Amino acid sequence: MGNLSLQLILSCSYLFCLICIASGFVPLDNYLIDCGSPRNSSVGNRTFLADNFYSDMLSTPQNILANTNSSSLSSSYDSTLYLTARIFGQASRYTFPIKENGRHLIRLYFFPFVYGEYNLSMAKFSVSAQNFTLLKGFQLDKGSVVKEYSFKIANNQLVLTFTPDTNSFAFVNALEVISLPIELIPDSAGIVEMPGDHQNLQNRALETVLRVNMGNQSVHPQKDTLWRQWVSDDKFLKHSAVSTVSNVDAVTYKYGNVTENIAPALVYGTATKLDSDRDPHINANITWLFTVDAGFNYLVRFHFCDIVNSSLGPFFFNVYINSWFAYRSFDLGKLTSNIIGNPYFFDVITSSTTSNAMSVSIGPSSESNYPMAILNGLEIMKISNSQGSLETSDPEISSSKTKLRSKIILIAGLSGGICIVLVFVLALFLICRRRRRLAAVSHSREDNFVMNQTGDKNSNSLALFSNSSFGYRYPLTVIEEATNNFSEDLIIGTGGFGKVYKGIFKDGTKVAVKRGQSKSQQGLKEFRTEIEMLSQFRHRHLVSLIGYCDERNEMIIIYEFMENGTLKSHLYSSDLPVLSWKQRLEICIGSAKGLHYLHTGSTRAIIHRDVKSANILLDENLMAKVADFGLSKTGPEIDQTHVSTAVKGSFGYLDPEYLTRQQLTEKSDIYSFGVVMLETLCGRAVIDPSLPRGKVNLVEWAMKWRERGPIQETIDPHLVDQASEGSLWKFMEIAEKCLAQCGLDRPSMGDVLWNLESALQLQVKEEKTSDEGGLVMRTDWVGHLDTPAGASTTQFSVGSLGDLAGASMSKIFAKMAKEEMR
Ligand SMILES: *[C@@H]1O[C@H](CO)[C@@H](O)[C@H](O)[C@H]1NC(C)=O
Ligand SMILES: *[C@@H]1O[C@H](CO)[C@@H](O)[C@H](O)[C@H]1NC(C)=O
Ligand SMILES: *[C@@H]1O[C@H](CO)[C@@H](O)[C@H](O)[C@H]1NC(C)=O
Ligand SMILES: *[C@@H]1O[C@H](CO)[C@@H](O)[C@H](O)[C@H]1NC(C)=O
Ligand SMILES: *[C@@H]1O[C@H](CO)[C@@H](O)[C@H](O)[C@H]1NC(C)=O
Ligand SMILES: *[C@@H]1O[C@H](CO)[C@@H](O)[C@H](O)[C@H]1NC(C)=O
Ligand SMILES: *[C@@H]1O[C@H](CO)[C@@H](O)[C@H](O)[C@H]1NC(C)=O
Ligand SMILES: *[C@@H]1O[C@H](CO)[C@@H](O)[C@H](O)[C@H]1NC(C)=O
Ligand SMILES: *[C@@H]1O[C@H](CO)[C@@H](O)[C@H](O)[C@H]1NC(C)=O
Repeated sequence: MGNLSLQLILSCSYLFCLICIASGFVPLDNYLIDCGSPRNSSVGNRTFLADNFYSDMLSTPQNILANTNSSSLSSSYDSTLYLTARIFGQASRYTFPIKENGRHLIRLYFFPFVYGEYNLSMAKFSVSAQNFTLLKGFQLDKGSVVKEYSFKIANNQLVLTFTPDTNSFAFVNALEVISLPIELIPDSAGIVEMPGDHQNLQNRALETVLRVNMGNQSVHPQKDTLWRQWVSDDKFLKHSAVSTVSNVDAVTYKYGNVTENIAPALVYGTATKLDSDRDPHINANITWLFTVDAGFNYLVRFHFCDIVNSSLGPFFFNVYINSWFAYRSFDLGKLTSNIIGNPYFFDVITSSTTSNAMSVSIGPSSESNYPMAILNGLEIMKISNSQGSLETSDPEISSSKTKLRSKIILIAGLSGGICIVLVFVLALFLICRRRRRLAAVSHSREDNFVMNQTGDKNSNSLALFSNSSFGYRYPLTVIEEATNNFSEDLIIGTGGFGKVYKGIFKDGTKVAVKRGQSKSQQGLKEFRTEIEMLSQFRHRHLVSLIGYCDERNEMIIIYEFMENGTLKSHLYSSDLPVLSWKQRLEICIGSAKGLHYLHTGSTRAIIHRDVKSANILLDENLMAKVADFGLSKTGPEIDQTHVSTAVKGSFGYLDPEYLTRQQLTEKSDIYSFGVVMLETLCGRAVIDPSLPRGKVNLVEWAMKWRERGPIQETIDPHLVDQASEGSLWKFMEIAEKCLAQCGLDRPSMGDVLWNLESALQLQVKEEKTSDEGGLVMRTDWVGHLDTPAGASTTQFSVGSLGDLAGASMSKIFAKMAKEEMR
């Protein structure tokens, strides 16, 4: 009995606690100081304590306390904080004991006024905390400013240091140190236009650049559980057809993981949306433009909440930062379980490089039934660089660089001779930097942050990428050097898009250089898609992006060099050594892993759309990697140009359901992969017009394998003696499932992978038992492993290369396409 009542009391108090938490966040560490003030000041319903209350935490408590009776400050809610200040004549430290380690929020309030001989507008100083530089050479002419930072505190103490510049002084009007809820800042987030996630965000300091509430309404700090100020979005909006909505009452935190601490209901309850009510066929983006500091990476948080309750059904839209995808075909309904008012947010990290502008856009996705896009809130936070600084490392140096540049121009105008010398020096500089970057690329892929700081100042590059990262951008000169000025001798493949060259960088790194031919809209689109895809995804079984170049109207993509060329070239119509069954299985497993990763590796499934044996490349160990992401995007209708390229490149691989219904799903890749499996098994082309009727189409022919008697009748004659029956059957069955007419009947890539692994197990077991029985059949593939693959003779392709592209073939395709449609 006693136990029961104790439990009752406990659960009641637990409930009570929950209610407490629900009614607002109570920070465990909560230092609020009205610096320079003799009195406690209440701001909203918080009290900033008088300066002397905490002066024992200060290393130099004898600093000057200043006050003003200036009436220039409009009476904002925190205006009392600005009436007094503490002035530091020398470096001074606040040391705050911290109860709860973890991320803390630090706000510094500044307002310059004149106090006796001190004109605070003249103050110039730095502020650092732990080993983060928060402010450097900071000076404020006029107006009040709140600077907001957050970083992790590990050893139960925070040291905040104010350091005046020489012959100057520092000041602060108020400061605030509060602990933050743990869920607020993630440890990692995906990177826009870069591979992978950025890890270890916890060890970086963040500075709030902006908090924006969409819907043309600002949110007052009093209305936010963490006293954050949200400004209205209208002054950032680049006008287009927008409308605003407000439905704060609809917002509910009941169903998701979003709490009021992430953003208050007033943020989620208002939104700016595409004005699709007025024009149901509207096709436009809504764009907001922000000013940021170049050379830093930013954590950008998007807040969404469907408060519209549209009866039109599901909609998707794209989210862009600097014209790059931040989220492709964002499906708000799905992510919020179709609950009206259920908030959702996601984070991305962007690198800002040399541009001071950041554009954020939302716009309809081609997948959507009707055009609709909505955004409720946005936060932009600057991430400290690898030196732990939130300020440009050396403002003097960067300004002297621009001076040097203008001098170069001046001198070049005056004297040709000096100009040549300078060009030489510049070239040297470029080469050195390229080397550095190459080293960085090969050694520390994960730390993109370091790489980005070697900001390129390539002024004649295309506007297309001017806002994007430079980490992977190569100067044209370097590529020309690597490919011997695009020498014909180094061509390892050609296709509709142009040529692929083998390139060797100065340090010996071999690369494949794909050079786009014409700058058509389509080419440009595929170029961008490819870079975006490759840089978003990094996997052992996906071909790696090394860099790109868009200088002087070029469209060049640099990939890792794949010594052994395409899978296709190893299967038929070449004199390359024959692959053993086990090797073929391993290649299929490798490519299945790559595709599985594409389909499931991120929240948004990526459909490759051009899976074929010519797009599976083999490295020097015959490890398979999936290549060519030029078509990988989601989109229901294939536009005209797409049909023609797709039919030319990969007709035999096209999912019949996709052809007829034009509805793209991952299952279309499964179908194409099934075709690749058949090719691998049968060692022949997908469409071979030289064969007798009935045999021309591999899929049609092979699918009748059960009628044909023993499986040996169907497979590549090279495999007959070495492949185990069990493994062959298993393989054929998976291929058959993949090739099911109806997408729903096809297995997922994960199932395919699992089954392929078991086919390999069956083969390995068989080989072991035959070895024991003294029967060795594997001599051929063991031998091939030792055969050095002559790079010069290996035909290598990265794009949709000479794949059944003959003119006479197009008629067959057209005919077959029609047949398939029926
Ligand atoms: C300010 O508030 C603190 C805490 O509530 C209190 O201890 C202190 O006496 C107050 N100081 C003044 C000057 O009122
Ligand atoms: C603080 O003030 C706001 C608005 O004035 C009010 O909604 C909120 O409940 C108050 N919070 C506390 C803890 O008193
Ligand atoms: C402001 O304060 C100064 C003393 O600090 C005083 O001389 C002056 O008259 C005050 N001005 C106003 C407008 O109250
Ligand atoms: C204080 O300094 C600012 C900027 O240097 C200047 O514009 C202003 O006139 C100064 N005010 C006084 C009272 O000297
Ligand atoms: C935002 O509101 C202001 C007035 O409150 C109005 O003048 C302005 O046009 C609005 N902007 C938009 C984009 O609706
Ligand atoms: C919400 O929480 C569930 C489990 O608690 C988790 O699986 C899911 O990823 C979370 N969603 C977000 C958006 O964090
Ligand atoms: C959404 O609209 C439907 C009818 O269109 C209505 O029945 C439902 O109550 C609305 N939901 C909310 C949360 O407003
Ligand atoms: C929206 O912006 C993206 C990225 O800049 C662009 O690719 C797309 O074409 C734009 N859509 C419209 C309708 O302008
Ligand atoms: C800051 O200092 C601590 C120990 O003094 C160290 O572990 C940490 O790595 C440093 N952080 C940075 C960004 O330098």
